[in-house]
Amino acid sequence: MDGKTYPSTMKAIIIEHFGGPDSLVIKDVPTPEPEDGYVVIQIKAFGVNHAEMHMRRGEWAESMPIIGIECVGLVVACPGGEFAPGMSVAALMGGLGRTINGSYAQFTRAPVSNVVALGDAVAALSWAQLAAIPESYATAWTCLFRNLELRAGQTLLIRGATSAFGKAAVNLAVQAGAQVSATTRKQERFDDLKGLGVKEALLEGPNLSARLDGRKFDAVLELVGNSTLLDSLMLVRRGGRLCLAGFLGGLAPIADFNPLLQMASGVHFSFFGSFVFGTPEFPLSDVPLHSIVKMVAEKKFGAEPARVFKFEKISDAHQVMEANEANGKMVVCVD
Ligand SMILES: NC(=O)c1ccc[n+]([C@@H]2O[C@H](COP(=O)([O-])OP(=O)(O)OC[C@H]3O[C@@H](n4cnc5c(N)ncnc54)[C@H](OP(=O)(O)O)[C@@H]3O)[C@@H](O)[C@H]2O)c1
Repeated sequence: MDGKTYPSTMKAIIIEHFGGPDSLVIKDVPTPEPEDGYVVIQIKAFGVNHAEMHMRRGEWAESMPIIGIECVGLVVACPGGEFAPGMSVAALMGGLGRTINGSYAQFTRAPVSNVVALGDAVAALSWAQLAAIPESYATAWTCLFRNLELRAGQTLLIRGATSAFGKAAVNLAVQAGAQVSATTRKQERFDDLKGLGVKEALLEGPNLSARLDGRKFDAVLELVGNSTLLDSLMLVRRGGRLCLAGFLGGLAPIADFNPLLQMASGVHFSFFGSFVFGTPEFPLSDVPLHSIVKMVAEKKFGAEPARVFKFEKISDAHQVMEANEANGKMVVCVD
């Protein structure tokens, strides 16, 4: 299959109207044409993300009829020659699903800046395994090793650790030699987190800092979000770092935030949003996705998807996400 011969129509999952999981329907639509600066990819599998649930509900600032912010697959056309046809690649962000049609389809057209060659290690992994990696691991890696500047031996708290993003962060941090504490709202998931190598599992809740009685961490990765952010500020030592990157507790802003009264002195607070991947300040080449795929292929840690769905079962995947039942990354296989 090359740029001249791939089909002119494809199946895509379309948001028919903003609403519940059943508002996702499969339709035949035109396949994206090759364009300078872009790569047309035959999608083999894609990860399902919390962001897409917000897009489906109409809660996201921007979304397209075809949502989906990431995928893995094969290059079928790349007019600029940056990627050869047949190459195994991942694509993430770069407006996918937000400002240009995304990855809930048989084909997508992603900006060259947001496509990464997956390398030889792909041979050891299935498309479903590969699809669990790009968005969750690229974002987790950047939060941990850029925003939080995490080093071996440091103490790290991850709030919302049973999410796909959280588990990716746990795996990367444990692999890097950090001492990880991780939260979930469900005690029955403690053993699962411990199985990933965390030092301790903690019950998530708004008063965690009070329950930990003055304990402080070198770094906190906040995925529950605005609803627990101020509590997390109390959990970081002087000179330590807090990175806000998730909003599992809801998108509502923090009311009446007064830094004078509510900021912890000497604590570094930052935000990371993966929508910046592929911009000049945040090139994807900064993220060692190649090495991450290699570590997964070498079984340094498990990045297995928690659930794998067929393309036709996308509404079921969103239903599982709504119910918080996945306990890790969900992926959809396109073939
Ligand atoms: N900044 C970025 O660039 C970036 C990139 C990717 C994702 N994200 C964000 O990161 C978060 C995780 O995304 P994901 O796709 O990995 O999520 P996910 O896998 O769907 O996470 C689901 C888990 O989150 C926990 N959770 C759900 N509601 C919660 C609540 N009200 N309070 C506390 N925990 C709750 C539940 O775990 P328990 O039941 O075990 O507690 C649930 O199993 C989302 O907010 C997403 O938008 C941000």
